[in-house]
Amino acid sequence: MSAAAVALLVRCALLGLLGSAWGVSSAPEEEEKAAAGAGGGGPPAGQPPELPTVALAILARNAQHSLPYHLGALERLDYPKERISIWCVTDHNVDNTTEILREWLTAMEGHYRHIEWRAEDEPSSYADELGPKHWSHERFEHVMRLKQGALNFARAERADYILFTDTDSILTNNQTLKFLMAQNKTVIAPMLDSQTYYSNFWCGITPQGYYRRTADYFPTKNRQRVGCFPVPMVFAAFLIDLRKGETAKMAFYPPHPSYTWPFDDIIVFAYSCQAAGVQIYLSNQEHFGYINVPVKSHQTLEDESINFVHLILEAMVDGPPMTPSKHVYLPPKRLSKIGFDEIFLINLARRSDRRHRMLSALSELEIDPLLVNAVDGSALNSSDIKKLGVDLLPGYYDPFSGRTLTKGEVGCFLSHHYVWKEIVERGLDKSVVLEDDVRFQPYLKKRLLRLMDDLERAQLDWDLIYLGRKQVNSEDEEPVEDVRNLVVAEYSYWTLAYVISRQGAQKLIDAQPLSKILPVDEFLPIMYDKHPNWDYKKYFPTRDLQVYSVRPLLAYPTHYTGEAKWMSDTETSTIWDDDSHKTEWSGSQKTLKDARTIGSGTTGHSFRSASRDEL
Ligand SMILES: *[C@@H]1O[C@H](CO)[C@@H](O)[C@H](O)[C@H]1NC(C)=O
Ligand SMILES: *[C@@H]1O[C@H](CO)[C@@H](O)[C@H](O)[C@H]1NC(C)=O
Ligand SMILES: *[C@@H]1O[C@H](CO)[C@@H](O)[C@H](O)[C@H]1NC(C)=O
Ligand SMILES: *[C@@H]1O[C@H](CO)[C@@H](O)[C@H](O)[C@H]1NC(C)=O
Repeated sequence: MSAAAVALLVRCALLGLLGSAWGVSSAPEEEEKAAAGAGGGGPPAGQPPELPTVALAILARNAQHSLPYHLGALERLDYPKERISIWCVTDHNVDNTTEILREWLTAMEGHYRHIEWRAEDEPSSYADELGPKHWSHERFEHVMRLKQGALNFARAERADYILFTDTDSILTNNQTLKFLMAQNKTVIAPMLDSQTYYSNFWCGITPQGYYRRTADYFPTKNRQRVGCFPVPMVFAAFLIDLRKGETAKMAFYPPHPSYTWPFDDIIVFAYSCQAAGVQIYLSNQEHFGYINVPVKSHQTLEDESINFVHLILEAMVDGPPMTPSKHVYLPPKRLSKIGFDEIFLINLARRSDRRHRMLSALSELEIDPLLVNAVDGSALNSSDIKKLGVDLLPGYYDPFSGRTLTKGEVGCFLSHHYVWKEIVERGLDKSVVLEDDVRFQPYLKKRLLRLMDDLERAQLDWDLIYLGRKQVNSEDEEPVEDVRNLVVAEYSYWTLAYVISRQGAQKLIDAQPLSKILPVDEFLPIMYDKHPNWDYKKYFPTRDLQVYSVRPLLAYPTHYTGEAKWMSDTETSTIWDDDSHKTEWSGSQKTLKDARTIGSGTTGHSFRSASRDEL
């Protein structure tokens, strides 16, 4: 069967669903009214003027990982759907993109002003491409033609605006369209946030049409410089005001007769704007949404999907979260323990916000945790604590504030201790322990699997492996032979994420720490004999815990001391044996961000340290 015949089949199949082969006018009367309005008749007296009409261009290819979120954001834009026409095409897919679009457009039928749609099942790849993420010449040309098709559609519709949005950009801010319109620019893009330094604009372009590094990029990307700025190039999401006369000369295809820049649809468009005398603008005045960092041409759709899951997780922490459309099928998650015997997630019952976020994040990662109800230190009075056999380590004082232990710290220790006991009782050989304020690095699962594989092969005897921590001093740590990305841990703080063996849990319990308690993240370094304080260490004669750390780290705290959303239950609560006095500091030095460890991740979280003021 020829490609054309298959395409026709798809179109005919849609006839029943959507009304006609190449599009359907869902509300003809509406359209006439609008046409009359656009013709200058004006609204009848007493009625508010109608909002401008918008053509929405959706070009999708192999986008099943992001489409439900992309479409969800579009359908939630705060703008009357009867003023929006949709132009949607998809082809060259190897995944469920066509099915998802068909499902969504069917659900949207009758809501939007007009839907025009074309899906081609064959071919599923370009003849000259190396893989689905490779941009070949043929692919560039095809995409330029499609974008030109969208522009022609908008002009034929006499739409006032056309909004282009790629399927890897998620406009979570429902005011985006109205906001961009209000800027009254010919071409304007909303700046999108990503997991890295990547965004959807350039600040500089060379005379040959290549990317030019400028001093403006990072201050703009990090919003140290906020406004609506002229830029030479935008992509992924932008709005064109077709009522402005100079747009008549703009085109995606064929490229301008004098075009010599790279054969790439986004650069062709930038040149076309220049040739038409149109200045492109970028706004970073609001948080408009997110863009997924693209994978390289040799990478796979799975890699792209993993990146996107990481973006979903980042959006959960930094907000606003992304939400998929309710009108499309989402494949069920296949949750597992990724080869561990148990994955413990410690959470205080009253911190339901954190619980929900961590459970959603782990579900996106297809990880199945066991929820552990943390001991709520602040609910214990000093006599309860003493009844539990808890007594302070003689002479313990917080190294930064000079206070003794807080009830929160007692609760935190009891929670970890409970988990260690369960590990021993259930005979669990390998477990992961997570607290509930963790931000994961990309490729968490793959890197954990590889780590456990390497450990097995190297026959390393280990008790505990930090996945996230703060290295206290800056000494170099010894790499472990034959295990990639693993070092022997020196003095470290935090217990937000670690892997622990049964033997490790047994050693920690055997030390009987509750009768000489100190914060759990000081206890661990004592047990592996890297704590500098001999006054503490003398209470724990056996200090042979074998502790390592992954490097780069796989987990970071979601927030640091002093940041707007920072909130610690262990450090801001009352002193362990005094029910009346609240501790007074607003955050311990321990949870200060460590500039050395941030940004050492493989895919670079370093934009965070640049984007947030160091304390
Ligand atoms: C837009 O989003 C905000 C914040 O999520 C929400 O409160 C508001 O109800 C939304 N507006 C519309 C019209 O959907
Ligand atoms: C594609 O979607 C259908 C339901 O619409 C589902 O049954 C199927 O498993 C999906 N395929 C993939 C590869 O996700
Ligand atoms: C919008 O910009 C145009 C120039 O492109 C100008 O003529 C018009 O007055 C502006 N409209 C508003 C409301 O500022
Ligand atoms: C501490 O709380 C327990 C209940 O958890 C209560 O029975 C006891 O009387 C309290 N003790 C003091 C000294 O407040």
